Amino acid sequence: MARMETLQAAAEELRRRFGQSPQAGVVLGSGLGGLADRVQEAQAVGYEELPGMKPSTAPGHRGRFVLGKLGGKTVLLMQGRLHLYEGHTMEEIVFPVRLMGLLGIRALVVTNAAGGVNLSYRVGDLMLMEDHINLMGTNPLIGPNLDCLGERFPDMSRAYSPALRALAKAQADRMGLELREGVYAGLTGPSYETPAEIRMLRILGADAVGMSTVPEVIAARHMGIEVLGISLITNMAAGVLDQTLSGEEVIAVGRERGSALQALVEGVLEEMEL
Ligand code: HPA
Repeated sequence: MARMETLQAAAEELRRRFGQSPQAGVVLGSGLGGLADRVQEAQAVGYEELPGMKPSTAPGHRGRFVLGKLGGKTVLLMQGRLHLYEGHTMEEIVFPVRLMGLLGIRALVVTNAAGGVNLSYRVGDLMLMEDHINLMGTNPLIGPNLDCLGERFPDMSRAYSPALRALAKAQADRMGLELREGVYAGLTGPSYETPAEIRMLRILGADAVGMSTVPEVIAARHMGIEVLGISLITNMAAGVLDQTLSGEEVIAVGRERGSALQALVEGVLEEMEL
């Protein structure tokens, strides 16, 4: 099947299963899947049930869509995302984001676990993504442009919606939650970075580093969807502290501090005008 037809077929199947359209989408990062438990009137569809969609194999990622009410909005959540390091292509990674776009979401909230590159950051901090640096060496829009989704050369100068960022800051203030704001560098992984690479990222202007999110944001902006990104700093990046990094630690911190991030996302959804 052609690329667009596969997308349309999967979108049709999701519409048929859910029977209602989402207003916003949420991508839940490593260890952050708990927000799906707060969704009311929840219905779930496994990624493997949809034509053209790849399963999620990463630890801490369930691999299903959940639709329901959150913060008073009809929301479609990705409980688990796809990563380049799993062996998926960039196009496969953004397939579910495009699906959410075809179902009609107007805003996308992306969350992730990230390493702290900025030396003033601490484990457990929440960082509003103000921008990203794509260091994955590729781009999900490479190949013939899908003109019905968006233009060939989409603008990325406001990739992370200034209006949604202002909403998130106001909401964090009301909650008494400290929110950092910084630049996320996206690398492929799956090996963590070397201390030299982290020093390089700091010179490049990165505040946090991770292995996801960037492709999803590019695909969402291609479709004209407004994006809000929030990183949970699950560890200080390599070489900052005198200790080694582990995937278990990342997921454990996600579970411990995930509730603050979840409350923030829920509060922001409540305030969003969609
Ligand atoms: N590096 C890359 N990705 C990550 C990290 C990190 O230190 N922590 C969580 N995801």
